[in-house]
Amino acid sequence: MSDFDPNRRQLLKASTVAVGGVAAAAGLMQTAEAAAVAQPAIPATPVLMSILLRVNGAEHQLMVDPRTTLLDALRDRLHLTGSKKGCDQGQCGACTVLIDGRRVTSCLTLAVMQEGHDITTIEGLGTPTSLHPLQAAFVKHDGFQCGFCTPGQICSAVGMLQELREGAPSHVTGDLNAAVQASPLEFRERMSGNLCRCGAYSNIQEAIAEVAGVKR
Ligand code: FES
Ligand code: FES
Repeated sequence: MSDFDPNRRQLLKASTVAVGGVAAAAGLMQTAEAAAVAQPAIPATPVLMSILLRVNGAEHQLMVDPRTTLLDALRDRLHLTGSKKGCDQGQCGACTVLIDGRRVTSCLTLAVMQEGHDITTIEGLGTPTSLHPLQAAFVKHDGFQCGFCTPGQICSAVGMLQELREGAPSHVTGDLNAAVQASPLEFRERMSGNLCRCGAYSNIQEAIAEVAGVKR
């Protein structure tokens, strides 16, 4: 008879430990494989794309990382720093520009998406000697204090007045079957995406109302 004579209980214990070890090893391998699939290799150099941006009537050929926002392309690459970066997540409106006449928060769109579109920034709306009517009204009515939100406010107001002219209703429009009326209530609602940390709202409203020909 052999010296090795394990009883039944010892055999069961030993085989349970062995099976547990194999299962743990298999689990670790699966985890490692999943991690390898979830993390694609990072390219050594950034992938760049060539784009043609049309801004304020001028064309600009740029090589950009496709993740570049329009706001960063305008400010950092084209040095059009009128559009401001307040929040970089679509909450403050300081980066508002016009794309094909529509107001857009430029921090929420990619530069590569805007090829073939007409982009207008505050620099393209008027000149120091020939202000856009809204720029002139903001000066006349003191529609700013620090001025950080002002380019976005003015671009947004240009787009907003166009939306009103086209009869687009807003959340506060009472009768959807009647022509939309410009009013201080409509202005407040439609400009609510543009925040002013200085609280110059009442003067901003006066400026917009004057350009729209509405009595406050
Ligand atoms: S910076 Fe774009 S919405 Fe605030
Ligand atoms: S004027 Fe200062 S944030 Fe609006």
